[in-house]
Amino acid sequence: MKKLFVETYGCQMNVADSEVVASIMINAGYELTQQAAEADVIFVNTCSIRDNAEKRVRNRIQEFKALKRINPQLKVGILGCMAERLKNQLLEEEIFVDLIAGPDAYRNLPEMINQLQDGRQMANVVLSLEETYDDISPVRLDKNGVSAFISIMRGCDNYCAYCVVPFTRGHERSRNPQTIVAEAMDLISKGYKEVTLLGQNVNSYHWSDSSEKINFSELLKKVAAINPNLRVRFSTSHPKDISDELIETIAETPNICNSIHLPVQSGNNEVLKRMKRFYTREWYLDRIALIKKLIPDCGLSTDIIAGFCGETEEEHQDTVSLMKEVGYDYAFMFMYSERPDTLAAKKLDDDVEVKVKNRRLQEIIEVQQASSLANNKKDLGKIFSVLVEAVSKRSKSQFSGRTDQNKVMVFETNDAKIGDYVRVRALSCTAATMIGEIVE
Ligand code: 5AD
Ligand code: SF4
Repeated sequence: MKKLFVETYGCQMNVADSEVVASIMINAGYELTQQAAEADVIFVNTCSIRDNAEKRVRNRIQEFKALKRINPQLKVGILGCMAERLKNQLLEEEIFVDLIAGPDAYRNLPEMINQLQDGRQMANVVLSLEETYDDISPVRLDKNGVSAFISIMRGCDNYCAYCVVPFTRGHERSRNPQTIVAEAMDLISKGYKEVTLLGQNVNSYHWSDSSEKINFSELLKKVAAINPNLRVRFSTSHPKDISDELIETIAETPNICNSIHLPVQSGNNEVLKRMKRFYTREWYLDRIALIKKLIPDCGLSTDIIAGFCGETEEEHQDTVSLMKEVGYDYAFMFMYSERPDTLAAKKLDDDVEVKVKNRRLQEIIEVQQASSLANNKKDLGKIFSVLVEAVSKRSKSQFSGRTDQNKVMVFETNDAKIGDYVRVRALSCTAATMIGEIVE
């Protein structure tokens, strides 16, 4: 049997896509290997969100080139966003790469591999208006068997000025809800305890056919209703679309986790306008206020970009003050990186010096560290329901898992197993982790 090695870069959507790719290839007679050196086919599923993400992949590709010298029969394919963004240019620049396939071309992978002969290269970067891979049952590549991603939609129609995603993943389309529910039920039957529903902007999920019409809040309820022991999470929400209905649904449904990731990007209205985010600081803070009112213990996280085009010191300070006002539990923080083809690349100057971007990013990181630590300290003494996910990396006698609010908790094991829910009292913390003890 031919062996396939898959390596994934970038976001959770890419992890979910690699699971679809694995399923397609296994159905075509391949088996998975964890060792690149023994593979007949290597797929690298790539990310284009920032320039350094692409650089990392380019370096890794060089390592696979060395493997190809040892085994000339080895086929190397580049999948995902870099394949889509660079198209044939990637095959010209990386001449030993055999195949490139964009995010909507994965059904054709086995056929493309079969057609690779005599050093020929193959490319399929056609984007689709319909492909959701809804009939494909993903092969889970993670090993914990507790928590899984379910992709509920693909693509993005928002065209934020900085973002390459609409160009690499195409137009937004939602997946048939019956297939989403079936996938969740299948996961439960295999022992999974948590699903995360994924999309670039899950709040605009919508589906209608002759049998039903359903929005995102209704989909969440439907998935949560399958089993009260299944934790349901979702990512990512766009602040302009997060509805009262969604916040109420989370508040009312015990097994929809009290944790919301709401990328703000900037706390200044002029910057938000230049970014084409279509909400204001005031709108965003109003959403946060409603979340805090209806779900008082809600975990809150965000994404922030430092040094977007034209960002002044005052505008940057508005981001800092918003962060302090919200008090996030966690944030993904980035320096702005210009991406070809985006509105910002075409119309705006990337004029904030790297040195300044870096300083602003550091300031943002420090504010976030302080906020994470302060929030964790507030939780000391409280008891949380924790889903046991793994043996801790530090010590074999410790487990790690997450609270409903998505905080990582580490604690000494008793006779609990991975996949169990345990009650844990928080005893101490760092900015990143809570340390606790199981209470009977
Ligand atoms: N530069 C820096 N960060 C970016 N992101 C998206 N595009 C860029 C870019 N060009 C960040 C945003 C987004 C997250 C997934 O990545 O914060 O929410
Ligand atoms: Fe990018 Fe905006 Fe789409 Fe998010 S919603 S992926 S930031 S275009």
